[in-house]
Amino acid sequence: MSLGACEIFEVGPRDGLQNEPNEISVADKVRLVDMLSRAGFSRIECASFVSPKWVPQMAGSAEVLAGITRAEGIRYAALTPNMRGFEDAQAAGADEIAVFASASEGFSKANINATIAESLERFAPVIEAARHIDLPVRGYVSCVVECPYDGPVAPSAVADVADKLFGMGCYEISLGDTTGKGTPDAVARMLLAVRNVVPAGRLAGHFHDTNGRAMDNIDAALAMGLRVFDAAVGGLGGCPFAPGAAGNVATEAVAAHLKRLGYQTGLDLDVIAEAAAFARSLRS
Ligand code: HMG
Ligand code: MG
Repeated sequence: MSLGACEIFEVGPRDGLQNEPNEISVADKVRLVDMLSRAGFSRIECASFVSPKWVPQMAGSAEVLAGITRAEGIRYAALTPNMRGFEDAQAAGADEIAVFASASEGFSKANINATIAESLERFAPVIEAARHIDLPVRGYVSCVVECPYDGPVAPSAVADVADKLFGMGCYEISLGDTTGKGTPDAVARMLLAVRNVVPAGRLAGHFHDTNGRAMDNIDAALAMGLRVFDAAVGGLGGCPFAPGAAGNVATEAVAAHLKRLGYQTGLDLDVIAEAAAFARSLRS
């Protein structure tokens, strides 16, 4: 029985690799993206125009975007924390960009050196400029359940930031359980609050698998109406500013899980397995 479509938004080349301590060459990053381009994704996040002092692994993002073989129908996405990042992403030919906020003040400071309010102020001109050139902007909210600095995060705080980003023009809000400490109950409580301000069809679940609960949390999100999930091939990842956070939920596991449940993702699981093996080989 088919339960309809679900989409996996592949974040491996960005969220997966950004935390790797060894230097990964542009050629290897390009090879990974090119493999993923054959798997059937509509969106692949493969670049991040942030300060190279903060995240050295993403320094070659413009070269990655220049080096990949673009497949028709795929949007290649990039993170942009400010106008400088937006200008670099535009020059490099990103098909969509993402601004990234936090639901907790501690992580916001640690990750982007700004309060939540300051970060939203910084994003406003980015979203405005993107709108001028019809570039889609995705909005991330990190620490939607737990913050490594501030502890448990109130669902209302997540709803507040999600509401603001959506109101500013983000076409989709990705909700990040950055630390991977979320439980299905906590995720459901958080989504109940967020769904009041952003429709479930405009939300994505971004789960990290630190405590092995990512798949249960995806099930909780499916029950709340979400149909888009971020995942990283090979389960790579973690955030340099979220101590203890383990990898993103693995794309191959999510794709197999969704298929078992009866959802269609349009993904080629053999190609994903090949890309996962390559992604894991890049790990130090
Ligand atoms: P700052 O130090 O407050 O900013 O950093 P600044 O304006 O004072 O600039 C500092 C230096 O960075 C300057 O260079 C700027 O030119 C440069 P210097 O004069 O020292 O040589 N700079 C830039 N360089 C390249 N590209 C730029 C850029 N902007 C300034 N766009 C800043 C503020 C936001 C720049 C910094 O904090 C930063 O880059 N943070 C990024 C952190 C990051 O990438 N974190 C990981 C992604 S978020 C994540 O993983 C979570 C997510 O996956 C969801 C989830 O799991 O929850 C999305
Ligand atoms: Mg993440």
